[in-house]
Amino acid sequence: MLTDITAARDAALTQIAAAATLDEVALLTTRLAGKKGELAQLKTKLGALETVEEKKAAGQAINEAISTVGDSLDTQREVLSSAALAEQVESERIDLTEFTKRPARGHAHLVTQAWERLEDVFIGLGFQVVEGPEVETDWHNFEALNMGDGHPARGEFDTLFVDHIPPEGNAGETLLRTHTSPVQIRTMLESEPPIYIVAPGRVFRRDTPDATHMPVFHQIECLVIDRGITMADLAGTIEAFTKAFFGAGFNSRLRPSYFPFTEPSAEFDIQRPNGEWIELGGSGMVHPNVLRAGGLDPEEWSGFAFGFGIDRMAKERHGVEDIREMYTNDIRFIEQF
Ligand code: PHE
Repeated sequence: MLTDITAARDAALTQIAAAATLDEVALLTTRLAGKKGELAQLKTKLGALETVEEKKAAGQAINEAISTVGDSLDTQREVLSSAALAEQVESERIDLTEFTKRPARGHAHLVTQAWERLEDVFIGLGFQVVEGPEVETDWHNFEALNMGDGHPARGEFDTLFVDHIPPEGNAGETLLRTHTSPVQIRTMLESEPPIYIVAPGRVFRRDTPDATHMPVFHQIECLVIDRGITMADLAGTIEAFTKAFFGAGFNSRLRPSYFPFTEPSAEFDIQRPNGEWIELGGSGMVHPNVLRAGGLDPEEWSGFAFGFGIDRMAKERHGVEDIREMYTNDIRFIEQF
């Protein structure tokens, strides 16, 4: 009897070891280890044994064989299922290395970068960003800014006139704005003081391109209108802007100058940490005539304005020698910034 049990167990183990799929293991589980399996069947022969000891020993041997076969089935099931999983993983594998060579990614142009950073810095200082039209009326661009017909300062602007007549303009009095200052007038007419705005945008002049000039370039205008604004507020704002934009090692200064739309007027310069001074833009206290053109009473309101070229600033900041390089869109140049 005991030899039969051992033989049945060994035969079972051999079959299990030979099982190549989980389905086969499932079949063997019912056939070998189930209640009606081959080993369990051996129990029916226990009655034929003579002594109690023999029955006991044989019964124990059958139970041990069943448990050994059960363990072997478990092991085989695990081996096959991890192999099946490994196979599935392998077959569903995605080769991610093919994505490591991505197409080159672009970035904002250096003038756009400067423009956006300027907006960020001024927003941080409490200003709002506004925009005005690029096609302007003679009135907004000159007249309202205290440059009447025949004012000599008009000549300095090399204006480009256009045939297009905007809703509020007259024929022959429509132009591409020569500076962002007309946004001062539009803002005063459209909103109530206190006004704290910056207006970045494109401006146009009839210039032949050279290392320092382009017929299309960018400016940013700053306008403050409130009660009791003085030249000290202008100087303080320019100083705060200089440090916030260029860095703590930079200084600013105002130099007496002349603009028809500010009185007094000043040009402002910034000083690099190495002591070198760079001209940045124009500024001054908003002229009473300009306040009046904007619908404001100069007895009640005062303000300052300043404006400067964004392109020139980006050029200085990055040490670009020829401003034309910024617009030829040669990728080898552009990708350096
Ligand atoms: N609009 C002037 C220019 O283009 C700059 C400026 C702005 C000067 C505001 C004074 C006040 O040169």
